[in-house]
Amino acid sequence: MRKIIHLSDLHVGYPELGARLEELVTRLIYHKTPATNYVVVVTGDLVEDATRAGSYTAAAGQLDRLRAAGFTVLAVPGNHDYGTGTVASRDYVARFKRCFFGKAGGTYPRLDIVDGVAFLGLDSMAGELNWYDRLFAEGELGAAQLGRLERLLRRRAVRACSHRVVYLHHHPFHPKPFHQLKDSEGLERVLAGARIDVLLFGHNHDGRVWNGGWGIPRVYDGGTSTGKAGYPAPHRVIDLAREPAFDYDARL
Ligand SMILES: [Fe+2]
Ligand SMILES: [Fe+2]
Repeated sequence: MRKIIHLSDLHVGYPELGARLEELVTRLIYHKTPATNYVVVVTGDLVEDATRAGSYTAAAGQLDRLRAAGFTVLAVPGNHDYGTGTVASRDYVARFKRCFFGKAGGTYPRLDIVDGVAFLGLDSMAGELNWYDRLFAEGELGAAQLGRLERLLRRRAVRACSHRVVYLHHHPFHPKPFHQLKDSEGLERVLAGARIDVLLFGHNHDGRVWNGGWGIPRVYDGGTSTGKAGYPAPHRVIDLAREPAFDYDARL
């Protein structure tokens, strides 16, 4: 079974972080071999300011280096990927998919089954793109996406997987003013009873462990993998074949 490397909040475009990501990717390529043993999950805020020309290309170039080395790379958008971080625009939804998934179409949740493990990626900005709530850094999955998630989790192919990993940008249940996931209760209801093994997210830059939250054994805040503004930068490696106590920070 492949191990998971959780990255988050790369914020490429913020001073020095592009270079730091390049170094992080180089270390991953040299230290985590064979790369085909790993799935890298990036939980949003790949760029600092999506409105700045070239920021997507710089971040995508580094993820492409990982893919070329043999890693499977999965990503979902954060608030900074759809605008400046506090003002978001619908225009970036298709652009993000084109740049980071290699295709403009498809909907969220994004489902990937890798070696019998189901990865379900959510867009926690999906309900935040209306004119009346596209400000601030809050998140909302929206009823439509939650409905799709519920149906996906009931699908035979997903239920038959050995593990289910859900990943999104916003913290699912830690309320921080102007940063919360507004439909947190809806997500909790959909995930309850669906035997979720791992819940990964970023956004708060705290890097904390919330294992056991919502009854899920592994609940991780990825912090900011490039260490934006000195915030915690855990590079967690998750081995689903072992107990959560064996997960570790690779300190790349
Ligand atoms: Fe962030
Ligand atoms: Fe964020």
